Parts: sequence; C-alpha cells; structure tokens
Amino acid sequence: MQPFNYHYFIGYVSQVTPQYIKIHFPSSTLLSKFIFSGEEFNGGLVGTYISIEGENYGFIGQLQEIEVLEKERLSLSETAFKNQEFHPTAKAEILLSFNLFDMKKVTKGANVYPTIGAKVFVCTKEFVQQYVQGFGKKKKEELLINIGYLNSDNQTEVTVSQQSFFGRHCAVVGTTGGGKSWSLSKLIEEARKNNTKCILLDPTGEYSSYPGEHCILSDNSYFSYRKLAISDLFFLLKPSERAQAPKLLEAIKTLKTLEIARRQGELDCYFANGEAKNYLLKAGKNKREFVEMQRKYYEEIDSNELNFDIKYLPRQIQGECVWEVDNRNPNLWGGKSETDSANCISLVTRTNAFVNDKNYKSILGIGDMNGKKDLAEAITRFLSVANNETLLRIGFEKVGYDFNVREIIANALAKYLLNLAREKMFKENPTIFFLDEAHQFLNKRVTDDSFTSYSLNAFDQIAKECRKYGLFLCIATQMPRDIPVGTLSQMGTFLVHRLINYNDKEAIKQSCATANSSILAYLPILGEGEAILTGVDFPMPLLLKVNPPVNKPDSATPQFKL
Ligand SMILES: Nc1ncnc2c1ncn2[C@@H]1O[C@H](COP(=O)(O)OP(=O)(O)O)[C@@H](O)[C@H]1O
Ligand SMILES: [Mg+2]
Repeated sequence: MQPFNYHYFIGYVSQVTPQYIKIHFPSSTLLSKFIFSGEEFNGGLVGTYISIEGENYGFIGQLQEIEVLEKERLSLSETAFKNQEFHPTAKAEILLSFNLFDMKKVTKGANVYPTIGAKVFVCTKEFVQQYVQGFGKKKKEELLINIGYLNSDNQTEVTVSQQSFFGRHCAVVGTTGGGKSWSLSKLIEEARKNNTKCILLDPTGEYSSYPGEHCILSDNSYFSYRKLAISDLFFLLKPSERAQAPKLLEAIKTLKTLEIARRQGELDCYFANGEAKNYLLKAGKNKREFVEMQRKYYEEIDSNELNFDIKYLPRQIQGECVWEVDNRNPNLWGGKSETDSANCISLVTRTNAFVNDKNYKSILGIGDMNGKKDLAEAITRFLSVANNETLLRIGFEKVGYDFNVREIIANALAKYLLNLAREKMFKENPTIFFLDEAHQFLNKRVTDDSFTSYSLNAFDQIAKECRKYGLFLCIATQMPRDIPVGTLSQMGTFLVHRLINYNDKEAIKQSCATANSSILAYLPILGEGEAILTGVDFPMPLLLKVNPPVNKPDSATPQFKL
C-alpha cells in the first residue's frame, strides 16, 4: 500500500493555513483524467481525495476549489485551454494525518501541517478504502457494516465498524426525498446480517413488506394501558392542575386498591353480597378501613403502573368528589361535594370519551382484545435469546393523529424500552431502536386545560442513558433543529442527506464538531441516496452514495394521473 506514487503526482503545496492548504499544479495536464493500472483517476475534480507527502507525516485531504491564477485568467482562450497552457491552483482541506512510519496511526484533522513544497498525489481506491475500513475499529475482529461507495469515485467501498456506527446513537437526517428511509432500511439490513436485533418504529407503514415480526397497533396488536405510567395517563386526559389532577390521582389509587381487594378478597364490607368491586362511591362510607388497606399495600398502590380496570375511571372520579370527612363522624367520608363535582365535569367527560373511543380502545387494549398481540409481551418474546427473529416492526400506520395520541404512545413505548434497558435486558444482547420520521415524536409537549405543558422526553432519556445499557437509538428525521439539543449532542454518528434549511445545516455543523466541516458545503446539492457520514469515531467525514436496500421502503410520492 503505497500512498505516494509518482504516477499519481499532481502538484505541490504552495500555501498552508490552519483552515486549508493551496496546491500549485505545474501543468494543467496533471488535472485531466488518466487511467493507470486499470483505475480511472481524476485529478481536477472537486471532491477528489488526495494524499500529501510530509516529512514525518502523510496527509489525506480533499480538493475543494480549483481556479486559474488571476494573471492567466485574462488570457484564457479556447486554444489556451486546448494546449493546456495555464497553471491552476486548488484549495484543499486536510482531513487526517497519519504517521509515515506507522500508517495505522491516524489523527483526525490536522494537528501537524504539511510544509510548502510537499508533493501532492491523487489517492488510489485501495488506499482510501483501507483507511475507511479501519474507521472506528477498535479490536481486530469486529462486526462490519457495508453502507455504500465513496461518491468521489463510485467504487471505493465504505465498510465501517458496526459498534462505532451505532454504539453512540446515530441520526440520519435530510429533507424529504433525500433517502433517509432507504438508508435506514440499508442499516437495518446490515445490522440483521450481523444477527443484531432491531426494533423499528414505523410511523407510516412504509416498512410493512419487510420480513420480520410485525406488531401493528390497533390492528393485530395493542399496547396495554396497564404498561403506561401515570404521567402518560395525565398526558392523555390532561387534568387541570389544581382542581382535577388530585381527584384523578385519588381515583387511580382507589381503583388500584379495589383491584387488590378483589384479588385478596378484602373490603367486603363496602359491597353488598356478590356486588362486584368495580368502583367505590365514597360519600358517607367508612374511610378508616379503606385507608388502612391502602397503607398495607402502599407499594403496589403508589407504584407508577396503571394496574386497574380503566373502564371504571370516569365513575370513580365522580366517586371521589366528596368532603374529606363527615362533620359528625371523623371515621367516615363526608357527603358529595358539589364544587368538586362541578370542577371535575370536564375531566369526567374527557375520561369517558377516552375509554369509549374506538381508536384508543383498540390501541391501548381497553376491553376485550381477543386474538390480538400484547405488544409488551411481543417485545419480551422478541428479545429472548431463544428467538431467532431479528426485526420487530411496530407499525403506527393505523394510529390516528388526534389528541397527540401518536406522540404519547411512542413516548410511552420508548419509556417501556428505557425501563427494560435499566433492568439490563439489552446488556448481553445489544439492540438497535430505529425510529423513522422522528420529528413526529421528538421534542413534543402536551398542553393541558390550564395551559401547563409537559414534555415527552423518553427518547431524550434513552439517548442520555441507554448507551451503557446496550440500547442504541438510530433516528431518521427531516428537521435536525427539532431534535432536542440534549438528544442531538448525544448522537455520535450522523448520516446526512440533502439539507437545505440554514438552521438545519447549522444544527448539524454544531453537533458534528469536526475540524473539517467545510465538506458540509455539499449538503444542499446532494442527490438521492448521497450522504455525508461523520462521527466521533470516524477520523474524517466521507461523502458517499448509500447502497439501495434489498427491501425498499414504500414511500413513493403519489403521481398525478394523466
Ligand atoms: N441509496 C439510494 N439509491 C438510489 N436511490 C435512492 C437511494 N435512496 C433514496 N433513493 C431514491 O429516493 C427516493 C426517496 O427516498 P426516501 O428514503 O423515501 O426519502 P426520505 O425518507 O428521506 O423522504 C426513493 O424512492 C428512491 O427512489
Ligand atoms: Mg422517509
């Protein structure tokens, strides 16, 4: 592997600055296309990779601008071009430097600089490929993923370490039609080849034809409300903070107590012979015994789970609207409180609408769920070591867009995975959680009646803590500026497709913090499937063309018919 071969010589370094170097070409012929040992070289194309021979260090860089000297510009004519009688110069960016005596020793950016007069060569395919393949590799034997080809020559394979690519979470960004979903599919395919388990949250059903297990919410599966946290129910029911939230909490506690009472055969005195212990109208009833029972089972009752029959929640909220104690007998609850009742009317109405809504019922498994899969169970089954399946698709295509339900369910699901991660479910068997169209789910807030808003931050938390638990996020989004800053800063790898919006470009620039960010100038002009790969573990950004996946997501824009 010889980085400097006089056959590939193109010019000399003529100026060195911290940001870029200038190259002088002794003759413009050196820039024209030539073929050497069967490989095609192109010295004059912007984007070409070059190597520079320093004293102790070698450098890899990329041509950025090529121009003709001012004094020659005036005399440019067609004959001059033909005879190639001009002496162009080029600006290039140093991407990395390597030790001449130990070429595997690479440093990112330029800590050392080439000297004036250093020779510049075009890089061979093998040379660049060898560097790229070592990207992120920490051990000798490592799982690799093949993403595509370098854009500069369309033949240098980009194969990188899977651990480095996914190990610090990864974001695929770009405007619609840039190729995010295709790239995500490619990444899923590559990870599956390595037997890595992938959970995919598919918001639109684009991936429904993929081989794997499919849990389509509200269709063949439900995500049991019992797996939600109390805060999720708050997001959904939006109680006002002062008047309604305490009653809602109290009602939840009561229903949980009743669930335990049914199981343990307790609290019979509250219910007439054989009467179902479904809900409790508290007015005038014995408070003491009930509170004692709650004390006994406080752990289960105060837990964050929704372990109760939610059908009875509206009636129970009404049942809670009583005076704290009876004036004459402190052991009893007082009578019905009209003020509380009036305050809770809107909450009861909303709760009623919620538990009877056809959509919610089938998404959250309220009522009879004959023959449908419980998503939480499906996830546990999927993750079990004995299971060979590598893809679990959670389809949201049947989930409506009303009442923030998508964000809330996605957030609850993320929280469920977060908890599994904290229980070390992924430690032995790291799993990648893919999320397409992440802007639909990230950075969302839900506002309640009194305009207090809650943020849905489960994905944020996964990004912040789950790396060490072996649950890795790979999100695709149109709008990087919509990713919470905290999440964005946790992303170690970026695959950036075409980006036009200034703020989006800035967001990416800020977070990939490489010495060499001028490659990002390409962002607005990238074609379909073209992308820039940058990452903490990758010594230099790469402009590449992503290989099309075998299974293609179905995202074609509907065509007007003739
Ligand atoms: N790697 C690729 N190679 C070839 N064509 C691609 C590639 N990626 C995307 N495309 C083309 O671009 C279109 C849009 O890609 P898609 O992934 O759906 O974009 P996005 O998810 O960013 O909106 C695809 O239908 C396909 O025709
Ligand atoms: Mg898409």
